[in-house]
Amino acid sequence: MTEDTTELTPDAWTRVDRYLTDALVGDQPALEAAITAQSAAGLPAIEVAPLNGKFLHLLARIAGARRVLEIGTLGGYSTIWLARALPQDGRVVTIEAEADNAAIARSSLERAGVAERVEVRIGRAAEILPTLAGEEAFDFVFIDADKESNTLYLDWAARLGRPGTVVVVDNIGRGGAVADPGAVRSDVVGTQRCLEMLRDDPRFDATALQTLDRKGWDGIALAVVC
Ligand code: DHB
Ligand code: MG
Repeated sequence: MTEDTTELTPDAWTRVDRYLTDALVGDQPALEAAITAQSAAGLPAIEVAPLNGKFLHLLARIAGARRVLEIGTLGGYSTIWLARALPQDGRVVTIEAEADNAAIARSSLERAGVAERVEVRIGRAAEILPTLAGEEAFDFVFIDADKESNTLYLDWAARLGRPGTVVVVDNIGRGGAVADPGAVRSDVVGTQRCLEMLRDDPRFDATALQTLDRKGWDGIALAVVC
């Protein structure tokens, strides 16, 4: 027997993450260049893992999304995955609070050949989101910014979406901290409020998945606007 089961250690799940990424994501020069540019500029390596980026991409395709809203651009890694899911006339509106990050993202989006499909809006999402209210509804919303504001972002996802809009919230596991009833860390409390809103707000139906990959132990929430 060579197929021994493996103890769950960081080494083991990183190896599996690498295996699955090699098997199903493969070489992605433009995406890898976006990571290199982000790292060279000193941005934190908190973009989604490759398998999760592709998961977002596939969800957007399955949803037939034409208009995508992303809250939290960072260096544009997930933005590229999402833009690639869209038809030629599709659009990603992505919001980034830091102008320096947005500049890195724009150049990576250009290198990836998707810049004409992406609008990078610089500023606090709380201020930019209300300006999008007159536009056509978004089909897909990815929330990946400051966790303290997740309930605000969910509210805007419902307002700017339509019944059937897919909503994904990143980082709902927080290394297991989310299950701590006495949590005081603001990001954890923000995540807990977000999950309670997904449970209680009739505008959503939702579930969540834990993830274990090169970014460690975390998770995503998946919701549909009702
Ligand atoms: C953090 C934020 C993220 O969006 C993420 O994917 C990982 C970590 C953070 O703020 O620490
Ligand atoms: Mg994230």
